[in-house]
Amino acid sequence: MHKIFESKHDLARYFGDYLLNATQDKSEVYIALSGGSTPKAIFEVLAKEYAKSIDWSKLYFFWGDERCVDPTDSESNFRMTREYLFDHVETKAINIFRVKGELEPEEAVEDYITTLEENVPFTNGRPQFDIMLLGMGDDGHTASIFPHQIGLWNSDNLCELAQHPDSGQFRVTLTGKVINHSRHIFFLVTGDNKADKVDEIMNQKGNFKQYPAALVSTSNTTWLMDKAAAQKLTFK
Ligand code: 6PG
Repeated sequence: MHKIFESKHDLARYFGDYLLNATQDKSEVYIALSGGSTPKAIFEVLAKEYAKSIDWSKLYFFWGDERCVDPTDSESNFRMTREYLFDHVETKAINIFRVKGELEPEEAVEDYITTLEENVPFTNGRPQFDIMLLGMGDDGHTASIFPHQIGLWNSDNLCELAQHPDSGQFRVTLTGKVINHSRHIFFLVTGDNKADKVDEIMNQKGNFKQYPAALVSTSNTTWLMDKAAAQKLTFK
């Protein structure tokens, strides 16, 4: 399923309304966040327009991926979320389960696996998030699984250590085993630079098989796009 919005703001409002309903329907909502520019824009809208309406204490926050840096580093996905969202809403610290990017990379992976095992409800032998937010890079990566390491997607482990292809930065990432087991996945994709990959993946053409983003299950996923990212789609 996909939805195309006039602006990032409209996209953010759609997601905000979804989150509001989810917290009204359930007493605990498990969500995995992503880094990137689109979530940042969404967090800003959530902080301004949903700070009072959403019951933030019902949300249990995790991440789909994290860079192996200190939580105060400007590259940290946790730091971005804290600055754009957590600092502005009523969250109980106990509901925030971050990836400890400050540890040695392998230790950070082990630590996060334990965090998932101890804190996320399991169904069919694996942790199940209610909501999984994903972005897609211009190269077709998602979470921190990049095309050159596409095999990590099929790992038997809940998390893996991945590496950025250009900078070599280590990252902790969830694998397909957890991502595709989520109740609902939102792909947040905005901007002209994503248009080609969106077209290739959604229409299963070109090099789509080389892109980790193409391995995300289609049955429980909604693509939330702006007009720029969706400009090459022939069906609308
Ligand atoms: C990260 C992300 C990553 C991101 C995409 C899209 O930590 O880098 O989780 O997968 O979502 O790179 O990023 P943009 O929205 O900035 O294009």
